[in-house]
Amino acid sequence: MDENIKKIIPFARKYKTHVVWNVIHNILYALFGTIGMVMIFPVLKVLFGNEEKVTKLPDYNGLMNIGSYLNDTLFYYVNHFSETYGPDYALLLTVSLVVFTFLFKNLFGYLGLQHLTKIKTGVLRDLREKMFKKIIELPIPYYSEKRKGDVMARMLGDVNEVQNSFFMVLELIVKEPLTILFSLVSMIYISWKLTLFVFIFIPVSGFIISRIGKSLKGKSAKAQQENGFLISVVEETLSGLKVVKGYNAESFFSNTFSGSINRLYKLTNSIGKKNNLASPMSEFLGIVVISILLFYGGNLVLVDKSLDGSLFIAYIGLAYNILTPAKAISKASYQVKNGLAAAERVFEVLEVENTIQDKVDAIVLDDFKNEIQLKNINFSYGEESVLKNFSLTIPKGKTVALVGQSGSGKSTIANLLTRFYDVNNGKILIDNHNIKDVTMKSLRGLTGLVTQDSIMFNGTIKENIRLGNLEATDEDVINALKIANAYEFVKDLPEGIETNIGDSGNKLSGGQKQRLSIARAVLKNPPIMILDEATSALDTESERLVQDALENMMQNRTSVVIAHRLSTIQKADKIVVMQKGEIVEQGTHEELLAKGGTYSKLVMMQSFE
Ligand SMILES: Nc1ncnc2c1ncn2[C@@H]1O[C@H](COP(=O)(O)OP(=O)(O)OP(=O)(O)O)[C@@H](O)[C@H]1O
Ligand SMILES: [Mg+2]
Repeated sequence: MDENIKKIIPFARKYKTHVVWNVIHNILYALFGTIGMVMIFPVLKVLFGNEEKVTKLPDYNGLMNIGSYLNDTLFYYVNHFSETYGPDYALLLTVSLVVFTFLFKNLFGYLGLQHLTKIKTGVLRDLREKMFKKIIELPIPYYSEKRKGDVMARMLGDVNEVQNSFFMVLELIVKEPLTILFSLVSMIYISWKLTLFVFIFIPVSGFIISRIGKSLKGKSAKAQQENGFLISVVEETLSGLKVVKGYNAESFFSNTFSGSINRLYKLTNSIGKKNNLASPMSEFLGIVVISILLFYGGNLVLVDKSLDGSLFIAYIGLAYNILTPAKAISKASYQVKNGLAAAERVFEVLEVENTIQDKVDAIVLDDFKNEIQLKNINFSYGEESVLKNFSLTIPKGKTVALVGQSGSGKSTIANLLTRFYDVNNGKILIDNHNIKDVTMKSLRGLTGLVTQDSIMFNGTIKENIRLGNLEATDEDVINALKIANAYEFVKDLPEGIETNIGDSGNKLSGGQKQRLSIARAVLKNPPIMILDEATSALDTESERLVQDALENMMQNRTSVVIAHRLSTIQKADKIVVMQKGEIVEQGTHEELLAKGGTYSKLVMMQSFE
């Protein structure tokens, strides 16, 4: 069995009862389908006026003779009706039997499908749920190399493909083969000689069909991959629309897009070609076999006289009854191949090992008492080392500022403190607990983070700010906005805190977004605040507002402030000057100025601006 099928079974296990009911209904469906075909036989008999003259009800004598028992019972009633009410009533009786068996066949078919739908949609829901959990659980480094669109395609497209094509397996293994089996049994019962032909036909056509299906899985995996790329292109183009338009780069992105859709075009065409071949080919092969049957069987009827004509027509009906499921199977087996390729992509994500995880015996740290220590940290994202033997102590209640040239590793420290990344060497201790020994939930509960790029979601101001504290009242939200110096602009908005701020907060200015992200951290009210100040040059008025906001927030709190505007951090308890991942100077504003080193040069440069 394919590995991906094995992996999907646990998902279906939850819907056991539906599986059982589906199987039961499908068995009944196949049974009535076969009986329906057999029921054509008495109709024909009555029609041609050569029904068997059974004048008394037969005795039941064992399962072995069930065929002739049922046959005789039926013809007893046919006779009885014919003699008492006339032949048209006998015809009505036999035709009604056909109608009822087909009614039951389709009723059970419907019920079987109902249960299948429940399984399909249930597994789809569970897979999506599990996938989303995994996606947000995976650490930040995982997404450094991945394209967002690829993950989206797996989450939305591939999961869907799994449900659409994959659950054909259930039909494939229950419904259709049973129809074939029941029909075959009846066919053997009618004429074993004729049935030999069918037995020769099945493996031959199975072989041809599987030959065509072989290359299909690889192709559809490629197509799904391309699909991921396509979604990425759309996603990136839309989120960078200002740059696309501002740089007249529409044609560049259009070209990337058309390159991708053309590759998809070729791939899907070649997949389609094979898919389309499946049913006409099996139909043709089927008709060839039926024709041979007609020829050979016709001989048995006409020349040999060893087969009853009506029985032979019912037999052909049964043979056709095999053809339809055979067609469905060959078609489904192709689609299952697409589904398997999709399932593989889904499980690839579900099985990624999470490199940043809680230890089994991780402790819950719900209080910050003394100090944060960074001890001899070495860190690199890739090859090049970003932090070299970096040590720093941040005592409780103090503000430590990190300054230094762009790329010196300031934001990296914020990434490490919040454990978005793990250090390569050395350790980070909070009150002497290595943060690797602490649950991530409790660690992140202790810290408030204002990122360099103010991250906003499409929603109202209130929703965006309440993220860190879902119980907060409107009043709390307004208080936080006041501390962050944001209320003065929010109160002027038409709907106040209920105003929608657009996709990623597009309807707001850079400084406004910055103050909202500060308000978000304020509302969370964590003991440790990590502020990565945005580099965007604000005008003096907004700068003062943001600076006041920061100062308000830092009061009575332990803060790590990454600053680009040195004016913001003059009051910091300690200023750490970084260069290429190392500390070159540290001290208070006054001490560093007096020293006349790197910091004083930076201050001089900024006051010139
Ligand atoms: N996700 C990442 N993957 C690989 N390298 C990265 C990643 N993030 C940052 N870097 C690299 O690490 C180095 C330090 O980056 P960092 O973001 O810490 O700088 P910074 O001091 O915050 O700079 P800025 O003042 O411009 O914000 C840079 O050379 C950068 O190229
Ligand atoms: Mg930075």
